[in-house]
Amino acid sequence: MEIEVFNDAEELAHAAAVRFQTLAQSSVARQDRFSVALAGGNTPRRVYELLATDDFKQQINWPSVHMFFGDERSVAHDHPASNYRMAFETLLSKVSIPVTNVHPMKGVGDPHANARAYESELRSFFGGVSWPRFDLVLLGMGEDGHTASLFPDSPALNEIHAWVVANWIEKLGEFRVTLTAPAINAATNVIFLVAGEEKTESLHEILRGPNQPAHLPAQLISPKEGSLTWMVDAAAATRLRVSSSEFP
Ligand code: 6PG
Repeated sequence: MEIEVFNDAEELAHAAAVRFQTLAQSSVARQDRFSVALAGGNTPRRVYELLATDDFKQQINWPSVHMFFGDERSVAHDHPASNYRMAFETLLSKVSIPVTNVHPMKGVGDPHANARAYESELRSFFGGVSWPRFDLVLLGMGEDGHTASLFPDSPALNEIHAWVVANWIEKLGEFRVTLTAPAINAATNVIFLVAGEEKTESLHEILRGPNQPAHLPAQLISPKEGSLTWMVDAAAATRLRVSSSEFP
């Protein structure tokens, strides 16, 4: 696991955009495609905006990029809270990615049916494998230690077979469709993007505290064969003493 600390959220976003570009170029060169599961929330917004600028978008072969989502809220795609809407407005509407390469999770209707449908979409993309091997999964981290829509003490934390589930989030009073931890852990590269002093305590607990994934679900993320990188800003990293081995 790598922990990379950046001076501020803008530097973090720029570094993440560079990493995305580099991974996209190497994946396309190697296998003629780059499959990504995007994170929702606010932190990745700036990364997506940067990827849509000429500095980045002209360096990425968008027809070979396939965009998936780590989770979706129980809202329509045109709702302000939709993760799809955020990605569409900041990035997907601004680059030459074929519409058939963008795979939104459905947020309205029966969440269990939506989860099953998404899993079958993943299975048809990744073929007859036991777990989806995303080239990159981008994740955020909530103050409560959740990631994707794997919230503390929620049923999905115990899922060991499904790739995608509808997870009941008690504190939100809603279901959310989410990739499961084993599905994320099958990825080739997983990157957490964490910024802001409000994340200091949970980041410290997750990375330096005891293993308690039911309470801190981000601790479930440990790629079996892939790389795990925490890209964080100094505000969130205040309590982390990052050893030189963890910080290039
Ligand atoms: C979501 C994300 C969620 C997010 C964290 C952090 O749907 O909101 O999947 O896991 O990454 O809540 O969100 P911020 O980046 O807004 O702090």
